Amino acid sequence: MCGIVGYIGKRDAAPILMEGLHRLEYRGYDSAGIAVARAGELRVAKCKGRVRDLEKILPDRFKGSPGIAHTRWATHGEPSDRNAHPHCDSANRIAVIHNGIIENATALRRRLAAEGIVFRSETDTEVLAHLIAKMPHDSLEGAVRAALQMVVGAYGLAVLDATRPNALVVARNGSPVVLGIGDREMFVASDPSALVRHTQSVVHLDDGEVAVLRADGFETSTLEGDPTAKTASTIAWTDDAFDKLDFDHFMRKEIAEQPDAARRTLSGRLEPRFQTAHLGGLALDARELLEVRRIKILGCGSACISATMGAHLIEQLARLPAHAEPASEFRYRNPVIEPDTLYIAVSQSGETFDTLAAVQEVKRKGGRVLGIVNVVGSTIARECGRGIYLHAGPEVSVVSTKTFTCTVMAFALLALHLGRIRDLSTAHGGRLLKALSELPVQIESILARDAEIAELARQLLACEHAYFIGRAAGYAVAMEGALKLKEVSYLHAEAYPASELKHGPLALITPQTPTIVVMPRDDLFTKNISTVEEIRARGGPILAITHAGDLPVSVEGRFDVPRSEPELDPILLNIPLQLLAYHVALQKGRDIDKPRNLAKSVTVE
Ligand code: F6R
Repeated sequence: MCGIVGYIGKRDAAPILMEGLHRLEYRGYDSAGIAVARAGELRVAKCKGRVRDLEKILPDRFKGSPGIAHTRWATHGEPSDRNAHPHCDSANRIAVIHNGIIENATALRRRLAAEGIVFRSETDTEVLAHLIAKMPHDSLEGAVRAALQMVVGAYGLAVLDATRPNALVVARNGSPVVLGIGDREMFVASDPSALVRHTQSVVHLDDGEVAVLRADGFETSTLEGDPTAKTASTIAWTDDAFDKLDFDHFMRKEIAEQPDAARRTLSGRLEPRFQTAHLGGLALDARELLEVRRIKILGCGSACISATMGAHLIEQLARLPAHAEPASEFRYRNPVIEPDTLYIAVSQSGETFDTLAAVQEVKRKGGRVLGIVNVVGSTIARECGRGIYLHAGPEVSVVSTKTFTCTVMAFALLALHLGRIRDLSTAHGGRLLKALSELPVQIESILARDAEIAELARQLLACEHAYFIGRAAGYAVAMEGALKLKEVSYLHAEAYPASELKHGPLALITPQTPTIVVMPRDDLFTKNISTVEEIRARGGPILAITHAGDLPVSVEGRFDVPRSEPELDPILLNIPLQLLAYHVALQKGRDIDKPRNLAKSVTVE
């Protein structure tokens, strides 16, 4: 998704902005651009393609300050040089970068064109540049405010006026904007990753806020001009956390980081005295939690799949009805919000538009919602106001790996906590605590067997379709395995409940369509064996993700994960499937960290 970075201060903005653009690359984009002010004039460079393509076309003495830069993910108008941001007014005085969508852009464009303005792009953003330029205001801030009053839609934006280089104006409505406070310099970005190299001190803008940034500080106010008070917070992540180190891909690095990330998710939360989990951020006491009759979990993509695993954990351990639903569907079906239901929003980034909209819908109807989020201070975390932070560290690869694992662990902690308030025995609680604390070492032991999984991956290279099946929580493992494989390898992978195979998809099983079967040695093991027999009878190859021990059927490949408590087994069963997707993609030569058409944080509808 689009990325914003801006700088005002004594230094030359260009190298700071270019480095910021590199930091934003992981979000997914199709073009990039930069504008700086110099001697009362704008200098602008932009092009379709990667940030390194922009670097190639930058003139030798491209210098100036303040400046703004952008990575674009096309919404209005194809990816092209002229549609790349920044966009300028006709006099090349005002430059605008913008994330989001201006919904009344067509009407505004028609009106401006009737006044004689000639548009140079097909974007909604260019409308903003012309609108701001024509406002009869003394200050840039006043002009931006007046222009935004005419606009309907979502935006995170930064505006530069070359003739008034003492300020940058930024605004937010539905798309994140974070200010970075430096030493007599200020930064702005859509994502803290672009700021951490320069400062750890940040301020998150809220929807409907405008900020004026000067080298020596900033002021914030509402769109109507009333001042707002902001408190700076500290980003816990350092610059090194965004480094690939010796790994070839961020996906591989983040898979390898899982033992440490899992330790951080657990840290300070295991409560052996009462065989339960301690979750201070819930801000709900035992009495309030006892009143909860149902749990509804919302998220998108992998977050929704982790929510499905979370729902299984809560039902098993707390015996509370729990259900996961894609946030993107929930928000549009006029959902019934019940006072005795606890809503949970799951989001790694904390910025996913559909999940945020679902949270707002729940709150608007009086529901109680808590967040399971990785990025501290992100919009969803702030909107929920209560919840569980993962502390998994930044996830740069477009596909989720470590945050998926940590989210399921956070659900395990929550389920344990809810269970121990209800009927879960101290003995069962104690077993789960022990099993949770052993998970990081067990994950390490799986990662150490990378070569075995690379070998299994070879068996998927020749096929065009693969099936993933499992039962109960094993089906959620299958869903996540299939999603990872299709995202990074572009292989068609489909997940099915093993129990449903003979109701349709069995027709597609041939010697060319391998099935990856998630089959822990649990109560459903023999059922899974029967399904495997049915697949074998149709000549379908089988790769089993299972536990050590005899398999009463022959399989083409297997990977045994260490055993945990049955409720926690899915966490370990998922790890080899992450590596499987990685190795298939590697062997197929895919762009693993930036899969085609995908973006890290989906901040538009
Ligand atoms: C899949 C993946 C996506 C995200 C989804 C939600 O590997 O990464 O499906 O899980 O876009 O993102 P967050 O968790 O940031 O809300």
